[in-house]
Amino acid sequence: MSSKLIYKLTKEPDQIINSLEYYSDQIINSLEYYSSDDRHSKDKPESFPAVMRRSPDYSQHRYKIDDLVSFAVLGLDVKITPDSEVKIIEVNGINSGMKGFQEAGVEYKGTPSDEELMRRIFSHFDSFKFDNDNLLEYIKTDLRSKNSCDEALTSHINGLGKEPIAYIAARLAVEGYFQNRMKGTKDVFTLDKRSLEDRLNPYLSGIINKDTLFTENRVLRNVHPDWESRYGNFAETLIGIERILKDKLQSDTFFDGCRGIKPKTHEYTEENFHRLVQAEQPKYVVIKPYNGSRGEGLVIVPATTLAEERPDPNERKYVVESFVSSKPILSEKDGQFHDGCMRYVVFVEENKRGRITLHDFGGYWRLCPRPISEDLDIDGMRANLAQGALAEKVSAEDMKIVREAIGRNVPMFYRNLVQRADPQREMKSLLREYSRL
Ligand SMILES: Nc1ncnc2c1ncn2[C@@H]1O[C@H](COP(=O)(O)OP(=O)(O)OP(=O)(O)O)[C@@H](O)[C@H]1O
Ligand SMILES: [Mg+2]
Repeated sequence: MSSKLIYKLTKEPDQIINSLEYYSDQIINSLEYYSSDDRHSKDKPESFPAVMRRSPDYSQHRYKIDDLVSFAVLGLDVKITPDSEVKIIEVNGINSGMKGFQEAGVEYKGTPSDEELMRRIFSHFDSFKFDNDNLLEYIKTDLRSKNSCDEALTSHINGLGKEPIAYIAARLAVEGYFQNRMKGTKDVFTLDKRSLEDRLNPYLSGIINKDTLFTENRVLRNVHPDWESRYGNFAETLIGIERILKDKLQSDTFFDGCRGIKPKTHEYTEENFHRLVQAEQPKYVVIKPYNGSRGEGLVIVPATTLAEERPDPNERKYVVESFVSSKPILSEKDGQFHDGCMRYVVFVEENKRGRITLHDFGGYWRLCPRPISEDLDIDGMRANLAQGALAEKVSAEDMKIVREAIGRNVPMFYRNLVQRADPQREMKSLLREYSRL
């Protein structure tokens, strides 16, 4: 039996229906293509979804996304303090890394057990006789080799509506925001190949950044303008969110209504450093680039450190925070206790009535490479996979307190965030302010 067929057999019934929809779409696309006038046009992309040449108003699909006004992926960096308080350290966006889930052996909560899997296969394929142990092993290995949390998130996003998501993803890509969880991008845009080749002459190709070149030449083609009026604002809002989340100082301000869950981030100046030390009385202070990632450029110093021994605030834009320690977390790998910073992934949906729903895709501990110690040691205090952190499963109790704290606080953060990130809402609030002047 071909591995393709095995793969299909293991899919959920609604996924099978989705595949059938996909194949029928392909057939309709080809039929439309062969009956249309532009069939001889050479640069016609073959896989372009025909449905986008018409207004979405004519679509027979009812998309889940049509009940929403915005959505986002948030990858939260979370600590649990020795007093069992939950603290958010940082919020990452749509490209939040999820590879640690697999490393930690965390499976999505909806992943079926082996028995459940067999039951489902039998119930949908009555006539399919399942008597091959090797085949069973193959299916299990195939399923277990996947990052189920990442896959569940990807299929949730695309489940909002295949074509709208493809459109939104293409809009993001055109503006240089690349992500890999929304499918169908390539079907919606195409490269303006000729101008690309013109620019890629031997003299220029060496000095031009190919990524910019690629971005500049992406265009949405043949898309009915109603797709923009219906779904363009989702893309604009996502771009706004990504822009804000890159800036740790700006992101932090949206926690002002739920400050208990996040240590305040300050701009790093000499004055702010002293003010923070006085007001918050931390033992250690974190100084990090305002737009950093992967834990790079981050320094931790005792609160008593003199200016000469700290980074120079004029050299680079830094932010400063009190260091929040985590409760000791046991590592299965070395049997020792570590400081941990969890990566917790949620998908946020805001519907037309302003209701915010969080969908959890799970979390895993990133444990600092070295165990907790009394001394200052960056490798015992900073947890990033890129800096050697160990991925570890989270206990059910810890997961529960994090899930509850996130559920209580993140909707308010998100409401504040989209108010600024959504260009339509931002424009309205600016107009309101001007009218008061
Ligand atoms: N205020 C803080 N208190 C305690 N630990 C912190 C604090 N700020 C940063 N850290 C530690 O340093 C790590 C990196 O910090 P942060 O997430 O802010 O930066 P980053 O470089 O943007 O990381 P990412 O790759 O997740 O985007 C965190 O995972 C955490 O372990
Ligand atoms: Mg981080």
